[in-house]
Amino acid sequence: MKKVITYGSFDTLHYGHILLLKRARELGDHLTVALSSDAFNLAKNKISHFDFAQREALLKAITYVDDIIPEDTWEQKRNDVTQLNIDIFTMGDDWAGKFDFLGDLCEVIYLPRTPRISSTAIKNIHVSSLA
Ligand code: CTP
Repeated sequence: MKKVITYGSFDTLHYGHILLLKRARELGDHLTVALSSDAFNLAKNKISHFDFAQREALLKAITYVDDIIPEDTWEQKRNDVTQLNIDIFTMGDDWAGKFDFLGDLCEVIYLPRTPRISSTAIKNIHVSSLA
């Protein structure tokens, strides 16, 4: 079985996330999503609209997602890849080159990022329409 992993906040789940997850799952037979914890988001200066439990519930509803683990630090990736026997690490190509250092443990693949949609853009719309 070929195992794939990807990382992210996946706040205000959107079409770009769905395409990324679909393509990631199609790279193998099993997809783990390492979902940024609320504390890790804060450390990245990101305040998510949905908290971890809500973002996890959204991801659980996606058929491409087989497993969800928390992402608490930048440094955990090598350990995750080893512990979970990951074959492929994948991220959107806004991260191109950033995770090549995992290449001795697994294949690293950057997938095309979907244009014109992001959690930040949704949050900006959302704030003004709530006012
Ligand atoms: N992603 C994508 N296409 C988009 C937005 C995100 O393929 N339009 C991918 C990212 O490249 C990443 C994953 O989805 O691999 C999770 O990204 P995340 O940072 O959670 O989503 P963004 O919408 O980029 O969030 P933000 O606006 O906070 O940066």
